[in-house]
Amino acid sequence: MNLILMGAPGAGKGTQSEKISEKWNIPAISTGEILRAAIKAGTELGKTAKSYIDDGKLVPDEIVIGIIKEYLTSDACKDGFILDGFPRSIPQAEALDGMGVKIDVVLSLEVADEKIVERMSGRRVCTCGASYHTVYKPSKQAGICDKCGAALYVRKDDAPETVQKRLETYHTQTEPLKDYYSKKGLLVTVEGQEEVADTTRLVFEALSRF
Ligand code: AP5
Repeated sequence: MNLILMGAPGAGKGTQSEKISEKWNIPAISTGEILRAAIKAGTELGKTAKSYIDDGKLVPDEIVIGIIKEYLTSDACKDGFILDGFPRSIPQAEALDGMGVKIDVVLSLEVADEKIVERMSGRRVCTCGASYHTVYKPSKQAGICDKCGAALYVRKDDAPETVQKRLETYHTQTEPLKDYYSKKGLLVTVEGQEEVADTTRLVFEALSRF
């Protein structure tokens, strides 16, 4: 299955892509995680990306398109993949079409903006990539990662004013993709639920039809 997972910032793309990846045994490619890893490593890519991410804006199309091309042509993706956070603009979607990659389904997680703000304020992450929520997905010991024991922290772009900017960016630049993929007959929407497990059940039901 070649899947695009879309949704507003904090809609639960990362959370659900982990579940889908385990069930269908396909890799999840998160452009957000790739960019954060580059920032952490202090590479040129990371230095460029940081200013955009901290400001709640999209990193320039040509940069992320280049990253995705490299991943999609790798052996790891030959039996399917989940694109988490790509494409995020019409030019990115057109570039993906131009790569000749067949997309089977585009799943959009729908969550209201007010709910997003609440979710982001409780998110805690770890440098190992694990992600938690103080209420909805707490770690066993507060502030400590279950997977590696490191201290959890708040993502810089989860500051309330940046979350508002990210939501604006989503509505103006990314949401038009729903129409783009709907016209191609590829769009499926799932309402994000209060509990992660309930959303996962609906996501699995929707994907099992493909
Ligand atoms: P990215 O990392 O992709 O950020 P995002 O899209 O804003 O999404 P998030 O990672 O914030 O949230 P998510 O939807 O994965 O939700 P999560 O599962 O964590 O990108 C970061 C930045 O990189 C972008 O702003 C941009 O600058 C740049 N970038 C990335 N891709 C790009 C591209 N293609 N082009 C240009 N720039 C790009 O869940 C959120 C929280 O809610 C968690 O705490 C979780 O535990 C909790 N939660 C999840 N599901 C539920 C539920 N059902 N009920 C209750 N709580 C839940």
